[in-house]
Amino acid sequence: MSYQPVKQLLQTPPGQTVTVKGWVRTKRESKNAVFVAINDGSTIHTIQAVAETGTLPDDTLRLITTGACVAITGELVESQGAGQAVEVKITDVTIYGPADPEKYPLQPKRHSLEFLREIAHLRPRTNTFSAILRIRHALAFAVHKYYNDNGFFYLNTPIITASDAEGAGEMFRVSTLDPMHPPKTEEGKIDYSQDFFGRETNLTVSGQLEGELGALALGKIYTFGPTFRAENSNTTRHLAEFWMIEPEMAFYELEDNMALAEDFVKSVIRYALDNCADDLAFLENRLAEEEKTKKKEEQQEMTLTQKLRFVIDNDFERLTYTEAVEILRNSKPAKKGQFQYEVSWGVDLQSEHERYLVEKHFKKPVILTNYPRAIKSFYMKQDNEPATNARGEVFGPTVRAMDVLFPGIGEIIGGSQREDDLDKLTARMAEVGIDPEAIWWYLDTRRFGTAPHAGFGLGFERLVLFVTGMSNIRDVIPFPRAPKSAEF
Ligand code: 4AD
Ligand code: MG
Repeated sequence: MSYQPVKQLLQTPPGQTVTVKGWVRTKRESKNAVFVAINDGSTIHTIQAVAETGTLPDDTLRLITTGACVAITGELVESQGAGQAVEVKITDVTIYGPADPEKYPLQPKRHSLEFLREIAHLRPRTNTFSAILRIRHALAFAVHKYYNDNGFFYLNTPIITASDAEGAGEMFRVSTLDPMHPPKTEEGKIDYSQDFFGRETNLTVSGQLEGELGALALGKIYTFGPTFRAENSNTTRHLAEFWMIEPEMAFYELEDNMALAEDFVKSVIRYALDNCADDLAFLENRLAEEEKTKKKEEQQEMTLTQKLRFVIDNDFERLTYTEAVEILRNSKPAKKGQFQYEVSWGVDLQSEHERYLVEKHFKKPVILTNYPRAIKSFYMKQDNEPATNARGEVFGPTVRAMDVLFPGIGEIIGGSQREDDLDKLTARMAEVGIDPEAIWWYLDTRRFGTAPHAGFGLGFERLVLFVTGMSNIRDVIPFPRAPKSAEF
């Protein structure tokens, strides 16, 4: 049986027989009629179906409850109710799946996000989560569109890998060995030669190293795939499984990399503004209501749309890590001891510092560059001169890194120009204890036809978090994986 999506029906002129299939959101009975609101996920809106009292069999009427799945056929007529142009005058109802109202966890009211996290299997049926998931889809599409339009090739990098791209040791092991009784070598170590791949393997933390192989052959590539980190950070911005977009470009230097990052992130946000108006308006209202319940000093100064425009309409501020540290050390919160972590040259910035720079100091997105070598990954291109500040103080060596910082989020993108000099790269690897044998294939790119190149990684969920205005990263991925949270 054919049917029309609600999104399409709401734009259809009255006068034809239609069928809608979806889930009942509400049923309301008045003296003369019964009104059923149906949503099928194609849009934030519901379509109203109406039957005169007494025209539906009792058995059918009883099964039309919140959560039930139905097919309704009838004439599309002009609606008498406010807020909708058309409604369906019911002639036939099929109940595909009833939902016992005593047991169905979703009621026609606003549930807390905490509660919905506990029923993650059903939350896509709520307005908030369906809006988020549609925006997530639109952003993913915009990512592919942007790179396709700009001459990049989509490269699929491995999920199971033997390398630790970030060198941070935060990997999930993948093994076919019996965890209780693994085979041992003569020295008593686990004998990975008997493992499936004949070596120790893990889930990828980043597709970058393989992405570099692609860039040094195809010119401009991007990856867009799942990445995994076993970091035990139970924060509102970290997941154990998240999606990352990693472009990698031959012949790009740090400045080109920054320009691309800015253009790219603005472009996908603009796409969401242009294509997700209804869902964004719904989330904006939702946020505005939430704001009303907050104390005055905690209320956001901008609406969701204003925040998105703020990113699109401003040139991102570019400065070095060393300059940022100066600003932070001279800032009011630093002097009043209001930062939880003190800032000094050489320490990694915390999101409180990043957000201060963006939200209070520059009041625009910020790109920080030239970070201390010691706090960044081994593959980043080394600067020739150590960092100095305006007073001529000399600090340690730096690398051609860049982090893009956003309001409310902090780091949304991390990237760098890559070290293309084999000797410098292997010397750095030796310093941080990376075995050149383990990534001989990576070093081959520097041995044969090396080239200046650069790239970055955008955490997809951090982007979705920003665009939807949600505050917890677990609410912008359908099935969040975080410490102690994997039920299905
Ligand atoms: O800064 P990161 O660790 O950089 C890399 O992985 C590089 N290999 C990227 C590259 O140059 N190709 O991660 C990049 C981005 C971060 O800026 C952040 O947005 C996101 O990935 N991210 C996470 N998102 C959710 N949960 C986590 N645990 C994340 N860790 C990083
Ligand atoms: Mg980073």
